[in-house]
Amino acid sequence: MTLLVNGRTERLRIDSRVTLLDALRERLGLTGSKKGCDRGQCGACTVHVDDRRVLACLTLAATTAGRRVTTVEGLADGDQLHPVQQAFIDCDAFQCGFCTSGQIMSAVALLDEGHTGSDDEIREHMSGNICRCGAYENIVAAVRTARRSGVDR
Ligand code: FES
Ligand code: FES
Repeated sequence: MTLLVNGRTERLRIDSRVTLLDALRERLGLTGSKKGCDRGQCGACTVHVDDRRVLACLTLAATTAGRRVTTVEGLADGDQLHPVQQAFIDCDAFQCGFCTSGQIMSAVALLDEGHTGSDDEIREHMSGNICRCGAYENIVAAVRTARRSGVDR
């Protein structure tokens, strides 16, 4: 099958039962997307498929053939971080960092969806992304900061 990941065409021979998360991490070496629960409950594996966020652990790789997959590795423009990545650094929005790539992918989609009208709305729409360190206040601050800087894709 052919996957289009971060603008590159990748040809893979994989079983139809392989998840997108395993294809990305184990076959393509894109380990930015994390495997937390592997059951759709933590959001650590969040990536974009055709600009919409999905849980890669619940998505079969085969269903994304020919669609645009974006992982956290594909957000930066060369050495220039995506504004949401920069906002996470500026707002100290991570501790151990394990959930961070999923948080960032959700935040980018959230800004695109326009669900950033208030802190409560940000919290509601980021609620599928769990941070065991409890960095939530700074994560909300990072999304708010990115919104103020007029982030788009
Ligand atoms: S690893 Fe996919 S939701 Fe937890
Ligand atoms: S920063 Fe540690 S799990 Fe989120």
